[in-house]
Amino acid sequence: MNATAAPAGAVPPTAARWPRCDRTRAWAALQGHFEAHGRDLDLREAFARDPQRFAALSFEAPEVFADLSKNRVDLATLRFLGDLADECGLAAQRDAMLRGEVANATEGRAVLHTALRAPRGAGAPFEAEVHAVQDAMLAFADDVRARADAGELTDIVHIGIGGSDLGPAMAVRALEAFRHPRLRFHFVSNVDGHDIAPVLAGLAAARTLVVIASKTFTTQETMANAAVARAWFVQQAPAGTEVARHFVGVTTNLEAAAGFGITRTFGFWDWVGGRCSLWSAIGLPIAIAIGSARWREFLGGAHAMDQHFARTPLARNVPVLLALLDVWYRNFHGFTSRSVAPYHQGLARLPAYLQQLEMESNGKRVDLAGDTLPFATSPVVWGEPGTNGQHAFFQMLHQGTDVVPVEFIAVKHAAHGHADLHAKLLANCLAQGQALMLGKSAEAAAAEHPPTAAAGFDRAALARHRTFPGNRPSTTLVLDALTPRSLGALIALYEHRVFASGALWGINSFDQWGVELGKALAGELLPRLEAGSARRGDTAGLDSSTAGLLRRLMS
Ligand code: F6P
Repeated sequence: MNATAAPAGAVPPTAARWPRCDRTRAWAALQGHFEAHGRDLDLREAFARDPQRFAALSFEAPEVFADLSKNRVDLATLRFLGDLADECGLAAQRDAMLRGEVANATEGRAVLHTALRAPRGAGAPFEAEVHAVQDAMLAFADDVRARADAGELTDIVHIGIGGSDLGPAMAVRALEAFRHPRLRFHFVSNVDGHDIAPVLAGLAAARTLVVIASKTFTTQETMANAAVARAWFVQQAPAGTEVARHFVGVTTNLEAAAGFGITRTFGFWDWVGGRCSLWSAIGLPIAIAIGSARWREFLGGAHAMDQHFARTPLARNVPVLLALLDVWYRNFHGFTSRSVAPYHQGLARLPAYLQQLEMESNGKRVDLAGDTLPFATSPVVWGEPGTNGQHAFFQMLHQGTDVVPVEFIAVKHAAHGHADLHAKLLANCLAQGQALMLGKSAEAAAAEHPPTAAAGFDRAALARHRTFPGNRPSTTLVLDALTPRSLGALIALYEHRVFASGALWGINSFDQWGVELGKALAGELLPRLEAGSARRGDTAGLDSSTAGLLRRLMS
């Protein structure tokens, strides 16, 4: 569904009026501030100096409280960073995106995922189209829930990849407490048959609904899995089962979906980027899982965050502050990654979701004009839910040679009845931020009497092994509870943060040309691996490594 009329320009008109971050006076001032105060700012001293630090550096956004006080900034740093945002025209760039300017210039598209969660009457672009599809999708979702109540459907298989998988998979898991009790959800994304085979093996076709989700309806992985699912269905379903009642498509390419034989399709538009598409019909499994009323709460939370982003002064605008911290850490401190540690098992897929959102958006090395950037962009984003991460990679976070800012997500109320477990979980979350910041001095370590060292091991050396440098930064985001509304707000917060950091860096956060080369080469290699192909095993024209590996795999 192609609803964007505006042509592509070399640089979006609003962005073109503003300088890239490194060409501003604020950038030079930040450099000076970093050398004089920033590099050596010690969090322990900063807290000792200023009893109001927590209050001064904590911020409220809809559904999300953000404690930034354990970051290596002070109010002066935030003022300098604010100057950078002003000089880069961040507010103007934000407003241009929100009103539908072609923010994605390399693909000639507007970027309007915010329109998908705007309520009727809010005056968002494409309101009529958006609400027509949304109403139809929600009626379908509620009908599926009714079929589940009647025992007609038990399982939903969602087939998609990247933005057509990660959002729904992450959100359905996060909203487990709100899921329809008689429906199980399965997400298949990988072209590896080990993904789909065990899913289908356990299902009855006659009680399964298959959702094929692909913005383009051409993605190799999704099309291949969709074909496998269709063949399974035809073979397994009892005679007379209507395929049309068991397959549904979600795509901007309605023709291709029809060509595949899907008669029930929900569309969306090219101005919805894949990694921000869970608010569109791509979110169908979420709507089926939680029902239409809660789906609207989910959108409501995101819309509330949109308004915060659009209207709150930049100095208190949480997505903007997080983006400015990203610039501060990436470009001044030189930190290369950020770890996200959700202390809620429901958010287990959030790190994977954020990897696509952030790294596919801002993993770019040229600016909007195509000039090579002289500074770094997206950090590596990685993580695991707490407390599991503590028993895996937190060793490195505390004592490794790299400083990795950590983003903790704490949820005040649990959806289960195990108050003791929840208290332990929250204690661990707070303790990790505290430990990263406070560290442990060599003197304190030497004063301890560790029981385990080998006999005769030098006590001073042992103390150094047991020393924590501390002063390691973290942010803590707090939700009251993990609900459709708070999840919507949290995701929208991250989306806006990614846009804001991309706008400061002067890049296009909305294309993903970096995934194309591998796709093309895989297409060229496939006939050399396929059974029955005349070119099977052919290594002509390949580099010796790829040729050697191919021979090894074909032998
Ligand atoms: O990985 C590249 C990408 O285009 C993502 O941006 C997108 O989310 C994913 O592939 C899936 O694409 P589609 O929804 O068209 O199948």
